Amino acid sequence: MIRKLFRNARITTPSDPGSPLSGKRQGEVHVFENGALLCKDGFIEGIGNEREVLSSRAADDVALEVDCHGLCMIPGFVDPHTHMCFAKRREEEFSLRLQGTDYLEILRRGGGILSSVRSVRRSSEEELFSVTRDHALSALRFGTTTLEIKSGYGLETEAELKMLRVIDRVGGETPLDIVPTFLGAHAVPEEYAAIPDDYVELLIRKMIPAISEQGIARFCDVFCERNAFSVQQSRRILMAARENGLGLKIHADEIYDLGGAGLAAELQVVSAEHLLAANEQNLRAMAKQGVMAVLLPGTAYSLRKPYAPARKMAELNVPLALATDCNPGSCYTESMPFIFGLAVLNMNLSVNEALVAATLNAAYSIQMAKTVGSLDVGKSADFLLLDGESPAVLAYHAGVSPVVEVYKRGERVA
Ligand code: NIG
Ligand code: FE
Repeated sequence: MIRKLFRNARITTPSDPGSPLSGKRQGEVHVFENGALLCKDGFIEGIGNEREVLSSRAADDVALEVDCHGLCMIPGFVDPHTHMCFAKRREEEFSLRLQGTDYLEILRRGGGILSSVRSVRRSSEEELFSVTRDHALSALRFGTTTLEIKSGYGLETEAELKMLRVIDRVGGETPLDIVPTFLGAHAVPEEYAAIPDDYVELLIRKMIPAISEQGIARFCDVFCERNAFSVQQSRRILMAARENGLGLKIHADEIYDLGGAGLAAELQVVSAEHLLAANEQNLRAMAKQGVMAVLLPGTAYSLRKPYAPARKMAELNVPLALATDCNPGSCYTESMPFIFGLAVLNMNLSVNEALVAATLNAAYSIQMAKTVGSLDVGKSADFLLLDGESPAVLAYHAGVSPVVEVYKRGERVA
């Protein structure tokens, strides 16, 4: 048994009430100006003002004491939406977008997601592993200690399973907790371009059961969008996933308002992501069903689109989470500090609202809140030390990472 004490920290953390925080409570955090965290075997045993933590009996039996020098301590970031398992970057496509070619137009011409599908199908498991691990370790240096990664660049059973095995292996061979999501419904593969409904059938009859049988994904996601999957197709796919025991997620109303947010509410999925174009009625329905909105401001930034209406969502009581979307097309970043800055400065979330969104609510959006997402007794000692007085530094010190130390299960990992 190893007990460690981290003292002399300015701690800011949400405290987990047992459900996501939303509306007026979205920014509810505790601040301990002279704080300490006590952990035993990697799990939090005490948290609060230093004097109180030190007065507990357990504090007498500490093997290691770390002085945090008054730095700001927050929970490790949870990044609940990434596509960082890919084989090749798409820089030439970025240049095309800068010259004015539309993102969905590139996909329609067989580029975009489909070009990543070609390179992932061609690449060996080892190559794919090395790129994905490097992305995950880069995310870790920016303070992400728990990470969701989607498949979706295979679009055939074997290639999707290859991606999911790689994602699983990254979880085993890095300090991060990794949550795998099956996104076989990311695009219609070229060989099914003329018969898209046959691909939906394949997903439902073959791919989803195969993935579920291997127990290799926790969630199933669908890209519900023009040139991808309609609301009707998405409904069928998600219902099949539910029958096969997978949790549900949906890329909803990212570019066009197809009604994906309404489907999210109807199926009471765990989270609906993007929502740049979602309408108010469907957002209300999401709030009513307690569906989390996972916001990806890096994507609006990179596609030069208007941001998701985060203030409106908070007003409607939709719980908000933040994620990078890290992918080779619509937003290439592993940096949660960058996303944090965009959320505060361009979506008008308060610093504390963004903090809850990037930690506790993000953990709820991938059903990981039992162990991570806040500095509460019993949870994993996953935390960051920031070079600043408060988490505001994440938005204030723009374009750099104020994350100076990263701890996972009480161990320094970056
Ligand atoms: O979330 N929207 C669909 N999927 C990703 C982009 C994937 C890609 O362009 O490779 C997204 O934006
Ligand atoms: Fe995405």
